[in-house]
Amino acid sequence: MNFPGPMRKTITVTQRKGGVGKTTIAICIAAELARRGHDVALVDSDPQRSASQWAEPGNLEFPVYEMALEQIPVSMWAQEVRRIQAGLVVIDTAPNAREMGASIALANLVLVPCTPSGLDLDATLQTLAIIDAARERRRDQIKVILVPNRLDRRTLEGRQLIDELSEFGELVAPPIASRAAFVRCFTSGQSVASFVPGDAADQEIQQLADAVEWADQGS
Ligand SMILES: Nc1ncnc2c1ncn2[C@@H]1O[C@H](COP(=O)(O)OP(=O)(O)O)[C@@H](O)[C@H]1O
Ligand SMILES: [Mg+2]
Repeated sequence: MNFPGPMRKTITVTQRKGGVGKTTIAICIAAELARRGHDVALVDSDPQRSASQWAEPGNLEFPVYEMALEQIPVSMWAQEVRRIQAGLVVIDTAPNAREMGASIALANLVLVPCTPSGLDLDATLQTLAIIDAARERRRDQIKVILVPNRLDRRTLEGRQLIDELSEFGELVAPPIASRAAFVRCFTSGQSVASFVPGDAADQEIQQLADAVEWADQGS
């Protein structure tokens, strides 16, 4: 197939705040969906190029395209993303409104990582406002999954985050805990699935992939 057909899916991983796990989740979910047989490519739209650095050792199972949209018109960037030949494109984003708006405009599904910090909830509200603005301009649906990240269920903050996220009226994924494996797999240029197969971190990403596939089936 030369052109991505109507079945082409785009998953944007975004959040108005930095350091919440966008790149970690983008890389790991892309790897897990590739392992499940999807034809995956990842677009690194963040000029900080963390996802591109992750890919540099050459250990990832899918291509990563460095496509910062800092200095080019959004329409040109969007056209280049649409040209990528893959059945499923995952976009990693910078936490600023322009990049987020452009990446959300192309998405069927948006993953929004949130950590148990008061600051993240405010940023999540801002992120949902950007998504709602994109929804008004689109005929088809943009689904959203909020992804609790670095969450310790034993803490009050951990339990509160799940409750607070549930009130936004969007889907909420099973939580991802704070685990050294997520930090170390970046250093080794691997996804958690290849770095620590079967480990708790890998299982959490598999559960997230289940939620992604489930949300997709409902569309
Ligand atoms: N679940 C997690 N457990 C432990 N460390 C994490 C987890 N998620 C992300 N991190 C670490 O937090 C830092 C920020 O994550 P990153 O994915 O780069 O966030 P963002 O892309 O939103 O800026 C990185 O050092 C990453 O390894
Ligand atoms: Mg990042």
